Amino acid sequence: MEKTCLIGIDVGTSGVKVLALATEGQILATAVESYPLHSPRPGWTQQDPADWWAGTIQALKSVLTAIDGFKIAAIGLSGQMHGMVALDSQNQVVREAILWNDQRTENQCQEITAAAGGLDGLLGMTNNQMLTGYTGGKILWLKQNEPDNYARTRVVINPKDYIRYCLTGEIATEVSDASGFGFFDVQNKTWHRDLIERVGLDPSLFPSVVESSTLTGAVTATAAAACGLAAGIPVCGGGGDAVISTTGLGLYKPGRVAVTLGTSGVVAMALPSFMNNPQGSLQLFRGNSPDTFTAMGVTLAAAGSYHWFREALGQHEIEQGQQQGRSAFALLDEAAAATPAGAEGLIFLPYLTGERCPINDPAARGGFIGLTSHHKKGHFARAVLEGVAFSLRQVYDLTVSADPQLKSESGDVVLAGGGAASPLWRQIIADVFGLPVRTVYGSAEGGSFGAALVAGVSIGIWPDLAATVPLIRQESETLPDPENRATYDKLYRTYTRMYDALKWSFAD
Ligand code: XUL
Repeated sequence: MEKTCLIGIDVGTSGVKVLALATEGQILATAVESYPLHSPRPGWTQQDPADWWAGTIQALKSVLTAIDGFKIAAIGLSGQMHGMVALDSQNQVVREAILWNDQRTENQCQEITAAAGGLDGLLGMTNNQMLTGYTGGKILWLKQNEPDNYARTRVVINPKDYIRYCLTGEIATEVSDASGFGFFDVQNKTWHRDLIERVGLDPSLFPSVVESSTLTGAVTATAAAACGLAAGIPVCGGGGDAVISTTGLGLYKPGRVAVTLGTSGVVAMALPSFMNNPQGSLQLFRGNSPDTFTAMGVTLAAAGSYHWFREALGQHEIEQGQQQGRSAFALLDEAAAATPAGAEGLIFLPYLTGERCPINDPAARGGFIGLTSHHKKGHFARAVLEGVAFSLRQVYDLTVSADPQLKSESGDVVLAGGGAASPLWRQIIADVFGLPVRTVYGSAEGGSFGAALVAGVSIGIWPDLAATVPLIRQESETLPDPENRATYDKLYRTYTRMYDALKWSFAD
């Protein structure tokens, strides 16, 4: 009998990952291709969609070589959320995509909120604040700042949807990414046309929206020739990475917390039904199963902070790592592990690209506080890991405070993303949250694993996502160390006061 597999493609911020999953549930192969991120001005982040497609072709080719003999049954898509990909009437890219961590749209977000009648009005329409990261403010920015580009634009889609277009020629998004535009009525699963018109945007720019497991065309002959795929493979809706990564962790029951340590850090919980968004502090989006929802909050620079640290101050570890055939992160972890919990009072604020949750302030800036002449590089490395953990704990506290039932049911943290590979970071998260941290099969693969599972559902390999949960077995467990409890509780309290104390210095 011919062996079949599913492909998950995750168009991330630092690179694209392609994963092949056997229909029995085991990961067969993965490949990653990196691409550049452009920052033409401080606070601006952009990428060229052509780089995503070139990377996808390369990564697909590598995976196809590794899975020779398998027939691909379906493809699922995941990607960095909120990125604005503007296409013209020929479906050509109008300008570089503006990304989720770009902070240029503060004025536009305020304008949209005012047009909705203030925050309460906006929450009544979309159940979400208009955050600078979201796609909606970017479209208004385009109209106000690049009118020629706006005039040429016929449709706006998100990064993974551009890969859908390249693979199938179809233009569509799905419910989880649509939620991240900020113009989507999440409760009623439709664009909020009134709000779109109130701010003077053209409703026809907003793409059609399908469920995550709905099929959206099939691989064309042209795409097949470019990637080495067979033409005709079905491609399904997929999902935004923050949502579909949680799906890939098997989180359906409310209460289990997923923490993803990617460039951004996402704290997410699946919700079985619609929940109001108190003060709009959380992101309340559609989930990947029909009529499910996800509550989440995002720390903008999580593994991104450690990445920055390695680049800015880890030259020695980069060189040592090259000589020893080890990663610079492993060497930085070793230096961090050699210093005591709490980094002897050194606190890192991870607001390197502004912050989104629980502090929503594009102007926020990072810092090391509490520095003494005693501190060495290992303390700095530990402070970065701890500062990110504190920020994620704040998001967690906010999430569970939204509904007492969530708090009572929350018994562990399922950790995912590249940062979950670090045993030290797993221990720090367990200690700072005071909860066991578990990793599960596929949790290192980010959105690509969830995308492959959703692809399987789309063609009936599994009847629904709940049926994929038994595949997602536990791989590691890290228990909180009671000895570190008091240190971290005290430092966390200090950390949570830092932003308010320093806020005045972030203002222009
Ligand atoms: C989610 C978000 C980030 C990006 C990163 O709202 O902005 O998680 O999707 O990939």
